[in-house]
Amino acid sequence: MIEQPLELPNGVVLKNRIVKSAMSEALADARNNPTAALMELFERWGAGGAGLLITGNTPIDPWHLEHAGNFVLDAQSDMGRVSELAARAKSGGAKVLAQLAHAGRQTPEAINPQPLSISDLRLNLSGYGAPVAATDAQLEDVAEKFTRSAELAQEAGFDGVEVHAAHGYLLSSALSPRINIRKDRWGGALENRARLLLSVVRAVRARVAPGFILAVKLNSSDFEKGGFDHQESALVAKMLEAEGVDFIEISGGTFEAPTAYQHSSKKQSTIAREGYFLDYAAAIKSALTIPLMVTGGFRSGAVMKAAIAEAKTDLIGMGRPFIVDPDFPAKLLSGEIAAAPSVEREFPPADDLPRGAVLNWFCHQLALQGSTGAAALSLPLIEGHARYLASIESATERLLEARCQGGGQELRCH
Ligand SMILES: Cc1cc2nc3c(=O)[nH]c(=O)nc-3n(C[C@H](O)[C@H](O)[C@H](O)COP(=O)(O)O)c2cc1C
Repeated sequence: MIEQPLELPNGVVLKNRIVKSAMSEALADARNNPTAALMELFERWGAGGAGLLITGNTPIDPWHLEHAGNFVLDAQSDMGRVSELAARAKSGGAKVLAQLAHAGRQTPEAINPQPLSISDLRLNLSGYGAPVAATDAQLEDVAEKFTRSAELAQEAGFDGVEVHAAHGYLLSSALSPRINIRKDRWGGALENRARLLLSVVRAVRARVAPGFILAVKLNSSDFEKGGFDHQESALVAKMLEAEGVDFIEISGGTFEAPTAYQHSSKKQSTIAREGYFLDYAAAIKSALTIPLMVTGGFRSGAVMKAAIAEAKTDLIGMGRPFIVDPDFPAKLLSGEIAAAPSVEREFPPADDLPRGAVLNWFCHQLALQGSTGAAALSLPLIEGHARYLASIESATERLLEARCQGGGQELRCH
């Protein structure tokens, strides 16, 4: 049941089964450090009753952001601020993980026109540069950077890290036979494509304390022809289990095939299923002994309870409902409400909207929640979308400006 605690393999106990999944906040300053607004947001979410909170995309280096405003965990981090973020997020009794990420070829062109990737295949979307295929030494350095960031997260007081190996970012693209076209030991057979992810996980596990949670977010499938698929996902999950991972979160899709945040619409004749990765995940769960978390579309308590009772998942990940009502977990657990809020159902089908509009509306609400204390849910969809794009543009300008002021030789400025 969703209110039951869960003991992870490393002995850490989560107080219930509700998890706030990662949602990129865009609330770091121009030097990639957490702002007061980001701390407010996490304190608010921590007080809302969830058992576990996961930060949004937290890059391991400032050249591979998912966008400006990501908070970075590296040697330049302001550890005072990072520690304050962890402490405030934990103040309500939730455990907190930092989601460590490297955006790879999905790094915006303005941040890095030549991002490091597993191959030189360019993303089929505008706004992304020409990736450079990493050398052996650069891939080893990526594993070292993930490990260094995990150590910093531990030092700052986080309960653990989630390694982001989903949604088409570097580790996810390395798993994909469509994107990873290497002929060396990092490409080809699945064990080669999984090498980068496994070396990251192995190195992190070896260098953090046993009580520090190590999780991985993995695609159930890329949902792209010739991409990483369900069968391979189950095999990689087994490999991760053997490396001492404490739980695996299942999601799906990439920037080119954005299936992670689907929204059904009342205007569609069919209402999309809740927990849209659940059936894929159930096959993975049956092969594992470590806990599984499934994220994507869960809203009604009854569906969540059935998913756990039928042993399809152990943890229920949710994102967008936390933006609408940070207190919904406590209300759901006490029975005050039967379902988490689902405002996305009020929006038209994605095909009738500009690309990314619903996601961007939520991103804007998230920033409002952090900076003003509350989302503005009556804001029209297209206006929220436009305001978010404008805010990212100015955050990018501030970031580039700060890079140039930094003046370090290694930091090329625009
Ligand atoms: C505004 C927003 C930002 C997101 N950022 C991230 C992210 O940084 N990392 C990640 O793994 N998933 C990210 N996601 C995906 C969510 O973690 C989650 O998988 C998705 O929203 C589906 O869950 P939901 O239906 O409960 O919202 C984001 C989703 C939203 C809505």
